[in-house]
Amino acid sequence: MGRYFIFGVIVACFAVSAVGLFWNLWYLAPLLVFGTLGTIGIYDVVQPSHSILRNYPVLGHMRFLFEGIRPEIRQYLIESDQDEEPFSRDDRSIVYQRAKGVEDKRPFGTRENVYAAGYAWVTHSIQPVHITKSDFRVTIGGKDCKQPYSASLYNISAMSFGALSGNAISALNKGAKAGGFAHDTGEGGISRYHREGGGDIIYEIGSGYYGCRAADGTFDADRFVEQAKDPQVKMIEVKISQGAKPGHGGMLPASKISPEIAQARGVPMGFDCVSPALHSAFSTPVEMMEFIGHLRGLSGGKPTGFKLCIGHRREFMCIVKAMLKTGIVPDFIVVDGKEGGTGAAPLEFANHVGMPLVEGLSFVHNTLRGAGLRDQIKIGAAGKLITSFDIARVLSLGADWVNSARGFMFAIGCIQAQACHTNRCPVGVATQDALRQRALVVPDKAERVARFHKNTMKALSEMTGAAGLSDPNDFLPHHFLMREKQGGMISGAQANPYLPIGFLLKEGKDFDGYRARWNRADFASFAPSD
Ligand SMILES: Cc1cc2nc3c(=O)[nH]c(=O)nc-3n(C[C@H](O)[C@H](O)[C@H](O)COP(=O)(O)O)c2cc1C
Repeated sequence: MGRYFIFGVIVACFAVSAVGLFWNLWYLAPLLVFGTLGTIGIYDVVQPSHSILRNYPVLGHMRFLFEGIRPEIRQYLIESDQDEEPFSRDDRSIVYQRAKGVEDKRPFGTRENVYAAGYAWVTHSIQPVHITKSDFRVTIGGKDCKQPYSASLYNISAMSFGALSGNAISALNKGAKAGGFAHDTGEGGISRYHREGGGDIIYEIGSGYYGCRAADGTFDADRFVEQAKDPQVKMIEVKISQGAKPGHGGMLPASKISPEIAQARGVPMGFDCVSPALHSAFSTPVEMMEFIGHLRGLSGGKPTGFKLCIGHRREFMCIVKAMLKTGIVPDFIVVDGKEGGTGAAPLEFANHVGMPLVEGLSFVHNTLRGAGLRDQIKIGAAGKLITSFDIARVLSLGADWVNSARGFMFAIGCIQAQACHTNRCPVGVATQDALRQRALVVPDKAERVARFHKNTMKALSEMTGAAGLSDPNDFLPHHFLMREKQGGMISGAQANPYLPIGFLLKEGKDFDGYRARWNRADFASFAPSD
């Protein structure tokens, strides 16, 4: 409650000054000062827009003061503290501006170092195309899917109720409803906040089987059917891993488990909620495909797929071989980059376990092409994708749509305080503290979610037209150029080429060790064969 201390002192001083005024007119000065500050404090607590002020009345204005003078005082600070933050100030401010619907143009030109290694740009056309629409969509659902889903190209990535507050989930889902895009539940199950929002849901099934869990923690088909048959549920996603902590389970401490979380997850109160590192419903590639086929059947034929961050590339090839062996093909695969986010992860995992998105996505895309399955499976991508350039680039690498988690967290007021794991989020996004989450005003933030999505898609439409294309899914690797270490220029088509369709199914030239790895992959086991 310390954050209300200053405001409390101001109110007390105001009261003392008011009483003191009966004795001495001198108290008028402090009365006016503390009266003004008190009024500001009351306004801060009730105004809907600035979450930080609702949680830090009066005090929170210091943040805006420093933000305001930051450029001037920055040179006196340690050179560029931006490196210490997952998202740069520029990236975050573009989200805030698009969420607020204020001017998002940049004056004076780029701040990017265009001669730095890794700098990338999209090639524009002398004959740009004027595109009027920006509601770009992709239909997800293969041969065994009975209820294909028309998804937006940009959706809210998995973040569970528990990692995020009820108000955050509510604002995200209502925003998705208003904007006509989807909201992935994350592995924490479907909560009342998802249901109240009415927005399209992607129901994620993690190793904890929350919402479809038997008393012993294993998968419960009857409970799953109860959840999956809800018309609000559009797709089913099995979580194999997320980029920020692949191969590492999760745990929600008992202290953070409210009755609502327990209800959404189907777990008892008073116990830590552990998501094991691996699934109990399957242990081989073939069993994994059978589980996916089973879920699709139980859901009445809704698009069913899985999400992973690439680890041992051979293991992903085992899964693809199991698709060919069983004839069970998922409707989609979501590739999460190592650079993805999380509520909490060990440092080593957050920094050095799992494949970055560019490589992971290109590998999945090409393995499916090599196995002749690419046209049956849609690919989603996630991992620091918040601008239209980010989206266009991963679409060119082979993705069919894009998910963002932290982009939408910024839209609901996240200030990247990186306190998600402490339950003391200053803006009510990643906390179960009832008073702290009060800072997040759902109607105001839901509008921002929808507006951020709409303006990002508009920017994507403009970039697509500038490149002389009519649809963002027409972006191909050759539309992007990158600067290499030595300073030279390289095309996306050289760096991440599309490999020939079916090349893994017949003898022939190997590409970058794909065939050697494929030959070692086994549909019956994830264990290395040699
Ligand atoms: C607070 C938070 C909670 C998350 N929870 C989940 C989860 O339950 N399941 C999952 O598959 N990914 C989870 N993720 C990962 C995101 O869905 C996403 O894949 C990753 O963060 C990349 O997207 P981003 O860079 O836009 O954040 C979480 C991420 C964040 C930031």
